[in-house]
Amino acid sequence: MPCSIAPGKVILFGEHFVVEGYPAIGLAVGLYASTCVEKGEFKIYSRQLGPIDPSSPLAKPFLRVLEEAAREFNCGRDYTIYIDSGIPVGAGMGSSAAVNVSLTHSLLHACGAGFTREDVSRIAYMGEVEVHGKPSGIDNTLATYGGLVYYKRGSFKRLDTLLPEGVELVVADTGVKRDTGVVVRDVLEKRRRLGRLGGILYEAAGELVEEALAALRERDVVRLGELMTVNHGLLFSMGASAWVNDYLVHRMLGLGAYGAKLSGAGRGGIVIGLAEPARAQAIVEELEREGVKAYRVKPDYEGVR
Ligand code: MEV
Repeated sequence: MPCSIAPGKVILFGEHFVVEGYPAIGLAVGLYASTCVEKGEFKIYSRQLGPIDPSSPLAKPFLRVLEEAAREFNCGRDYTIYIDSGIPVGAGMGSSAAVNVSLTHSLLHACGAGFTREDVSRIAYMGEVEVHGKPSGIDNTLATYGGLVYYKRGSFKRLDTLLPEGVELVVADTGVKRDTGVVVRDVLEKRRRLGRLGGILYEAAGELVEEALAALRERDVVRLGELMTVNHGLLFSMGASAWVNDYLVHRMLGLGAYGAKLSGAGRGGIVIGLAEPARAQAIVEELEREGVKAYRVKPDYEGVR
C-alpha cells in the first residue's frame, strides 16, 4: 500500500502579509503527517480522530484532492485513506498541508501516475483551499519541497542556504487552537480599515523579509532574531496576536532568545524563538517548568517522500 510522509513547518517571517502577495520565509520542520492509500471503497481513517464521515466538513479537503487527481491524472475516486499525523492541529505548524501533500503523493503513486513535486503541491493546494479559504500556498510548498523557502504568491525559491549552525528553534505551544481562515479574514479587514497606514505596514513587512533573507545568507543570527521580534510587532499591529503570544515572546526574550515571534496564523497557536542550542534547551526546560508545552524543532530538508 503506497504511503508517504510530509513535514510540518514554521513561518520564520512574513505570515499574513504573504496572503496579499508580499514575500515570506518558511522552514519545514521534522514533525510529520503520514498518509497511506489503497484502492477500495472511499473511506477515511485518522489515527488521531478515528473514522471520518465522508459527508462531514472534515472530509472535504480529501474529496477535493481525490477529485483533482481524478481530473488531472485519471486516478479514479475509489480509495481508502489512512492518516497519522504527529503535527499539532490548529497550531500553525502546517498540519493540514502536510496531510494534503502526503495524501496527494501516495494517491498519485497508487494510481501509477507519472508526476512531479509541482503536481503534488498544486493538487494539495486545492485541498488547502477547502480548509482555509484563501491560503497563500506557502504551507503546501514547504510540505512538498522541505527546507527553507522564500515564497511569494505564485512563485517561490527553495533556498540553498541552511538555518545557520549554532542556532536552534524553540517552539512554545499556547495550547489555544483557532481557525486560520477566520484570523486571515480579520487581518485583511484590519488592513482595509487602516487604509494608507495598513499599506505602509505591509510594505514594511515586505522589506523586513528581504532583510531577513540577507541576514540568513550572512548567517547573522543576532540580526535574524531582531527581525523576528520586529515581525511579531507588525503581526501584533495587524491584530494577529493574543496576550498569550505576546507573553511567550517576552518570556523567550527574557530567557535569552535572539528573537521570538508568533508563527502561522497567530491568536494562539505557536510562538517560535531562535537561540543558541544550550540556551534553547534552557528555554524549553524553564517554559516546561512553568507549565508551557515547549520543544526544540529540527529542519527537514527533504520534503514529501
Ligand atoms: C500560513 O501558515 C499562515 C498564513 O500566512 C496563511 C497563509 O499564508 O495561507 C496566516
